Amino acid sequence: MATTPLDTWEADQLEKSLSRRVKGGFGAFWVAGSRPQEPPPVQPIALTGGIPDPDALPIEELIESSNRVLRREGPEALRYGGHQGSPGLREWLAEETSRREGLALTGDNFTITNGISGGLINVAQTFLDEGDVGLAESPTFPGGVGAFQNCLCNVDGVPMDADGILPDALEEIITRHEDEGRRVKLLYSVPNFQNPTGYTMSLERRHAVVEICQRHNVLIAEDDAYGDIRFEGERLPSLFAIARGNGVVFLGSFSKTMATGLRVGWTLAAEPVIDALLQTRFDLGGSPWVHRAILEFASAGLLERHVATVNEIYRRKRDAMLSALEERCSRYASWNRPEGGYFLWLTLAETVDPKALADAARRHGVAYVGGQAFHRDGGGHNSIRLAFSFVKESEIPEAIQRLGRALEEAADGSPAQSS
Ligand SMILES: Cc1ncc(COP(=O)(O)O)c(C=O)c1O
Repeated sequence: MATTPLDTWEADQLEKSLSRRVKGGFGAFWVAGSRPQEPPPVQPIALTGGIPDPDALPIEELIESSNRVLRREGPEALRYGGHQGSPGLREWLAEETSRREGLALTGDNFTITNGISGGLINVAQTFLDEGDVGLAESPTFPGGVGAFQNCLCNVDGVPMDADGILPDALEEIITRHEDEGRRVKLLYSVPNFQNPTGYTMSLERRHAVVEICQRHNVLIAEDDAYGDIRFEGERLPSLFAIARGNGVVFLGSFSKTMATGLRVGWTLAAEPVIDALLQTRFDLGGSPWVHRAILEFASAGLLERHVATVNEIYRRKRDAMLSALEERCSRYASWNRPEGGYFLWLTLAETVDPKALADAARRHGVAYVGGQAFHRDGGGHNSIRLAFSFVKESEIPEAIQRLGRALEEAADGSPAQSS
């Protein structure tokens, strides 16, 4: 059959019709990132995406859980399920979280979202007005900042170190805005194994951050995408638990523990906050089928087993990456040793030219994400994020060899000898 190409809108007509959100360029990062780039000279080993190990996805178990749900409760699973999401899954989340955090929660404290991403959009649309101020750790996951900016609010970065947000800096920034007549409404924080740094906020800092935000009436959006990906050490109480829910909205997800393609996360908050959040949901909720399949999987104990299995895989990958870095890259960078999560954060030595590194890495066939992607102020040139979650364990030594060659070249300006 003959096909007809689409007529495109005149560029100036499109431009005139775009919302201020798009004109502000806030979403350009995502669109640019999803377009195919020119093919690199060497097939790169990707240390880029914060994506689960593709060989460890629980595919068979999900097929069985999904089949059981469709056979047993097909008509309900395939009907609109409402904005708040499956009551069964919310009850399960309430029991799990109550046990872990020592809180008395019910399914009414939860709403199921299109991943944490959907939850962040929901939180931003519920609490932010044009011209409000939002705060986020610097560096941070750009998706959180994007959700805030999409409400035409301004976002300021709050400095952090390996123990999380610096409380004095937080206080100073909030006070400065208040003195200048602006209201700081929201703080976005990723306290466990943060993206991009892998840093975890210390207990002392958690208490300080909650205290400051409560005193200034700043709502905290706590993103716990990676909290369950823990290989060692003790889990710290969430900001939500420390605040006993007062002024904190907690966002969780099955993306990093199970699969990003599920697109299922949750928001946990005090009931009046959940009621407010439901007022800005117009998507008719997520998929009841997927919610029920996840409940079937989780309530049979398969999620707990799966998380234990993948955490062992990620621990081995982290260790393989750390020892390869130690062997090959210690002259050119320093890094952290996170107790969990998906990422290592490298600070480049002053001798390394970041632009030359990007070019050399492309030629040598290793892909990472440059630190600038996580900074709002154009900073972060001297840092890079390496994800160890997705790459095959057997490819990690070669990936780091390639990175080492690229670093060597970027440090002294001459092409490195292949080794
Ligand atoms: C800190 C953080 N939050 C949220 C997300 C997105 O999570 P979800 O897939 O649940 O939307 C990511 C994904 O990389 C992330 O790193």
